[in-house]
Amino acid sequence: MTFPLIAPSLLAADFANLQRDVEMLNQSAADWIHVDVMDGMFVPNISFGLPVCEAVNRHATKPLDVHLMIMQPERYLEAFAKAGASVLTVHWEACPHLHRTIQQIHDLGCKAGVALNPHTPVSLLSELIDQLDLVLIMSVNPGFGGQQFIPNTLSKVSQARDLIHQRGSQALIEVDGGVGSQNVQALVEAGAQVLVAGSAVFAAADPSATIQALKEAPLPLPN
Ligand code: DX5
Ligand code: ZN
Repeated sequence: MTFPLIAPSLLAADFANLQRDVEMLNQSAADWIHVDVMDGMFVPNISFGLPVCEAVNRHATKPLDVHLMIMQPERYLEAFAKAGASVLTVHWEACPHLHRTIQQIHDLGCKAGVALNPHTPVSLLSELIDQLDLVLIMSVNPGFGGQQFIPNTLSKVSQARDLIHQRGSQALIEVDGGVGSQNVQALVEAGAQVLVAGSAVFAAADPSATIQALKEAPLPLPN
């Protein structure tokens, strides 16, 4: 696997041309397709749900990285697994029985991720980190695309890297929110391995070239 993996977020796609945008991602250097599900409760916004995920899955040739910004996501894990999710990420703040939720995701044959809001310390994952396939560091407050990256979250990426290393965990570190050419280098240096990018990709004149550029940006500049 060559890091960073790039996971463009469909939240910033044109919902009236979703098939076109998914096919663009299929042809691009994107590694995963990030699917942001919002319930209007855990976050103040409503995005889309199961039928859209199923429809995207009919056209996507890349793994669906489903980010559940919903309360008690355990109610919907099986349905999202059936709708095509490869990675199912739940929020630490939304799960009263997180250990069980992670087991449920694995029992469904999916990779399991836990997302942390900007104010939630990385150390809260210490008893669970060896069970995880992914830690998602939110670098904005979840709920909306196009927000500004919160600089303090950069140190959480290196804290996650240290915790993963200490515990011998296999978890990948994903960063979501305000990611673009201006911070990709710092994020990768801090330990980010999967970069979610919504507006940076879809607001660009050439989304496919932007995905390629994000993937290559962290390479050291030639002398
Ligand atoms: C925010 C979502 C993000 C969002 C990122 O709640 O989880 O995935 O789409 O959008 P940008 O890249 O525009 O910040
Ligand atoms: Zn997301």
